[in-house]
Amino acid sequence: MFLSAALSSTTSHLTILPSLITSTTSPLSRRFSFTFLENRNPTTTTTLFPYKQRLLVKSQATAPASSEAVKVSPVPSEMKAWVYGEYGGVDVLKFDSNVAVPDLKEDQVLVRVVAAALNPVDAKRRQGKFKATDSPLPTVPGYDVAGVVVKVGSEVKEFRVGDEVYGDVNEKALEGPKQFGSLAEYTAVEEKLLAPKPKNLDFAQAASLPLAIETAYEGLERTGFSSGKSILVLNGSGGVGSLVIQLAKQVFGAARVAATPGTRNLELLKSLGVDLAIDYTKENFEDLPEKFDVVYDAIGQCDRAVKAIKEGGSVVALTGAVTPPGFRFVVTSNGTVLRKLNPYLESGKVKPIVDSKGPFPFTQLAEAFSYLETNRATGKVVIHPIP
Ligand SMILES: NC(=O)c1ccc[n+]([C@@H]2O[C@H](COP(=O)([O-])OP(=O)(O)OC[C@H]3O[C@@H](n4cnc5c(N)ncnc54)[C@H](OP(=O)(O)O)[C@@H]3O)[C@@H](O)[C@H]2O)c1
Repeated sequence: MFLSAALSSTTSHLTILPSLITSTTSPLSRRFSFTFLENRNPTTTTTLFPYKQRLLVKSQATAPASSEAVKVSPVPSEMKAWVYGEYGGVDVLKFDSNVAVPDLKEDQVLVRVVAAALNPVDAKRRQGKFKATDSPLPTVPGYDVAGVVVKVGSEVKEFRVGDEVYGDVNEKALEGPKQFGSLAEYTAVEEKLLAPKPKNLDFAQAASLPLAIETAYEGLERTGFSSGKSILVLNGSGGVGSLVIQLAKQVFGAARVAATPGTRNLELLKSLGVDLAIDYTKENFEDLPEKFDVVYDAIGQCDRAVKAIKEGGSVVALTGAVTPPGFRFVVTSNGTVLRKLNPYLESGKVKPIVDSKGPFPFTQLAEAFSYLETNRATGKVVIHPIP
């Protein structure tokens, strides 16, 4: 009760005025003029943790003035963020109004977060499943971000203040992911992990993509997938699977795409280009006579998946035990992959799938995590607006 009362009284609002947006030419990125309008109430900020001193690093200076007509509100020294100081269930997530805005390294940009998305790795990390390779607690979670650059490091070449960007903030998903993730008003991200936001997508749609689409792409590449091949996608209605289907068909030129949705998602997957939708609640995919060049296992059924490949076929397994010849990999965040896929997104050939229960507002992060953890989300669980 106390927390929700505090949250409702501390919500601030970010407004980007469309009438002020003007595009100028640039070979590398579009530049915009925009204004942030924020309604802050400094008297209602809360301090929930004794470790605040660790998070309150030094203050950030105002974003550097751009030579172009860009107006950005000054970057404050503190921000609103979700934080956990111990591993556990959703109840360890705490809202903190006084988290230090992260310092920038030379190769990083500071992003004003407009939308973020949740991934199963956020939940597993919070539960302590990767504690051996995690960054030290306390943690501001969040991998996926879409937002606006408000400050650039001295070595940044591609981006300028005002650019709209998206990406996965953690280069290695499990090895030392950032202590300050995207579920905050600001996040610091290496330039190489970001790409310009696709022009046709809003921030919520863009935030739904990075980790899932990079995983989908990297997995397909690692199987050597190419034009004319067939593929079966296990968990075709999830965040990753819904993009594997589309990339296989639209980017890699798959001859035939099959997938395993539950009953309620059969039609959705057909609309994404699936030729054969196998309702996993009614049929066992490995018992069907048809076999595939590749099985993309995004659910943890590798032992069954290997029975569904042609001789010499491949199985890529994102989670669970691996049965040979299946193999596993852990996604590497890569802005170059996003840039490569931007034309497919901007032409509408590949579409973001945002779960219809969302986007969840920033204040409802615990509810969003609880929903993700039912393993029933269709596409991505998105957090917007922020804060
Ligand atoms: N190794 C890596 O680098 C990497 C990267 C990304 C993700 N992952 C892992 O890959 C897995 C998938 O991630 P995600 O983000 O795509 O998950 P997700 O979006 O949370 O998956 C939810 C979906 O799972 C489906 N589902 C539940 N039980 C199923 C079953 N028995 N068969 C087929 N589908 C089923 C549900 O479909 P219905 O509602 O239709 O039942 C729901 O749409 C997670 O374990 C994640 O941690 C690994």
